[in-house]
Amino acid sequence: MKALITAGGKGTRLRPLTHTQNKHLLPICNKPTLHYALEKVAQAGIRQVGIVTNQEGLEVQQAIGNGDRWGLQITYIPQEAPLGLAHVVRIAREFIGDDSFIFYLGDNMIVGGISRFIEEFAEQKSNCHLTLSRVKDPERFGVPEIVGDRIISIEEKPNNPKSAFAVAGIYLYDSSIFEAVNRIKPSARGELEISDAHQYLIDHGKKVTFSEITGWWKDTGKPEDILEANRLLLEHTEGKIAGMVDRQSLVTGNVVLEEGAQIINSVVRGPAIIGKGTVLENSYIGPFTSIGDNCQIRNSEVEFSIILNQCVILDVGVRIENSLLGVASRVVRAASRPRSNRFMTGDQSLIEIS
Ligand code: DAU
Repeated sequence: MKALITAGGKGTRLRPLTHTQNKHLLPICNKPTLHYALEKVAQAGIRQVGIVTNQEGLEVQQAIGNGDRWGLQITYIPQEAPLGLAHVVRIAREFIGDDSFIFYLGDNMIVGGISRFIEEFAEQKSNCHLTLSRVKDPERFGVPEIVGDRIISIEEKPNNPKSAFAVAGIYLYDSSIFEAVNRIKPSARGELEISDAHQYLIDHGKKVTFSEITGWWKDTGKPEDILEANRLLLEHTEGKIAGMVDRQSLVTGNVVLEEGAQIINSVVRGPAIIGKGTVLENSYIGPFTSIGDNCQIRNSEVEFSIILNQCVILDVGVRIENSLLGVASRVVRAASRPRSNRFMTGDQSLIEIS
């Protein structure tokens, strides 16, 4: 069995962060999103992995490398444009050959292993095995219509979902999928939809089975999903204090404090992770916060947020919450009079002032 992982697409819903970085490299719990998919695939015993990337830019390749550190052999497959998930499968034909494979969307996060899905696919001798997750907003996803224990149809982002399930971005296929992705036509939004390929398999009498994901699963397409995935991962993280905590500080709950990090006269309530070389002084860090490496936070409060490397937060009078700060962002109290707010933002930034 091989694995095919996506790391292309536009990342439009995560702008401005994705103006300068591929969304699959954005850290969640201080680790690039794509690492989680690679870890799951490696744990399941798969060795040969194809990663589909945008044609322009080699940043994914540079950040991930040849896969040695996970015991994987990675082949990079450039996609000329984000023409849809079925297009991703289409262009991977040469890499996959006649093997079965797991198709794993690189922006999907799941707690627990994926071996169970691989076993069920093999046991049921399916042509296609889907993973389903019960969600509040199925209209954002591919949605199955289920009768008894069979999927009878699948629609992509339907206005009137026929079930409360999303088809999650972890799919298992044999080579029948290639006929499907080569026969379907682009959708109204101009993409070759993976849901249409699944419908093709159903319509042509192929065996399409499914497993329900019972633990949590997240598609990290939007900022709120990233914050939520960060929360869930932090909940499953064990604390480890390698940095320095002074006597005036209070650290409670599960907190990972990396080497060289310093907590001075501050309160940190986990779960939280604080990266290497970061300094917190006279500050409060609340639950579900990931702070990257070499940040400085002084006289400020941060909770339920992701702060990337090298950020500076100084003397901010209100608590920063529910926020995602890109690399080397600065949020500081202005010293000049008259008091005013000054912004120096990139395109499509969001600032909410209370
Ligand atoms: O997350 C599950 C959902 O993923 C499914 O329920 C939907 O049926 C499926 O279409 C997909 O929907 P999304 O709208 O979330 O797909 P998105 O465009 O975000 O792309 C998912 C991943 O594939 C992400 O890693 C980006 C990558 N991608 C996407 C396209 C369209 C590519 O590498 N190339 C592409 O052409």
